[in-house]
Amino acid sequence: MPSPITQGTPPYAIEAYGITKSYGRRGKPAVRVLDHLDLRVGHGSVFALLGPNGAGKTTAVRILATLTTADSGTARVAGYDVVADRSAVRRAISLTGQFAAVDETQTGEENLRMMARLTGLSRPAARRRAEELLERFGLTGAARRPARTYSGGMRRRLDLAAGLVGSPEPGVFFLDEPTTGLDPRSRQELWEVVRGLAEHGASVLLTTQYLEEADRLADRIALLDRGRVAAEGSAADLKGRVAGHRLDLVLTSRDAYLRLTGRAVHHSPETLTLGVPTDGSAAHVRALLDEIDPAGTEVDRFTLHSATLDDVFLALTSEVPARV
Ligand SMILES: Nc1ncnc2c1ncn2[C@@H]1O[C@H](COP(=O)(O)OP(=O)(O)OP(=O)(O)O)[C@@H](O)[C@H]1O
Ligand SMILES: [Mg+2]
Repeated sequence: MPSPITQGTPPYAIEAYGITKSYGRRGKPAVRVLDHLDLRVGHGSVFALLGPNGAGKTTAVRILATLTTADSGTARVAGYDVVADRSAVRRAISLTGQFAAVDETQTGEENLRMMARLTGLSRPAARRRAEELLERFGLTGAARRPARTYSGGMRRRLDLAAGLVGSPEPGVFFLDEPTTGLDPRSRQELWEVVRGLAEHGASVLLTTQYLEEADRLADRIALLDRGRVAAEGSAADLKGRVAGHRLDLVLTSRDAYLRLTGRAVHHSPETLTLGVPTDGSAAHVRALLDEIDPAGTEVDRFTLHSATLDDVFLALTSEVPARV
């Protein structure tokens, strides 16, 4: 009988400690894909694993979802060990795509009803469950159309709904790049669905290459770089670690530029522009201007920028993220 490691509700929905995984290549040294990865995902939260191509995101998800095993380290999902209690983990999770054996020729409604029947629901209960899920995922209007006519976004929502037909609903969702390839509107709709899952109390671990997605959607973000977590926190925490905001000053002379260059974090000599860190408050910006240019003659113009997650990514990892 699988048993949760802790009594009662486990402290985290997902916890991984020191996960290491290498892939051997014939005749060549093994490549270490995950290098002591540590992760903790709280209940009812959305956690984004953000990283460029090849960072190890899918490998991490596959280990946590019990599809492959780590070389070393331990992980628990919903309180169950991913190796020792593998089947209990599988019952507690939904992995996009994995359970969605969607039949293209059947309608969305038929697919969901059939899957609900397979999980043991009676015919009327299966019909109610299918209706409920179609409604929840904004598919009621398309319920009677064959799945093959669905757009990419609708298809992913149907996949998600299919992962939920069983009762009780899984508490932990793994979504590996759920919005890759979707148009902006479908992406937005999927974001709402994901937020809705968390509002229903589920915990979501999603992977993404999109900084904006992690920023908009996730309560916490881990930047994955070469198989390790390079930085972790809320979007605001991560932005704060770089510099909250940056005040870019366009100076009136080259002398002023050279005199002030030492305190800048961003330099653009061609335009005589220097960027200095600030918290972005009016009080701090005013104080900075007064200090840097007490006579009011050396700063021609200024602009204030919020640090973006791109800034954070570039500052904290070695690779340039893929662009949206
Ligand atoms: N089964 C495997 N055999 C050998 N190498 C693998 C295997 N799976 C993954 N890799 C390698 O491990 C590294 C990480 O792959 P992974 O798929 O986890 O990255 P990812 O962050 O999901 O990337 P992407 O953004 O492209 O999906 C890559 O270099 C990949 O080639
Ligand atoms: Mg991947």
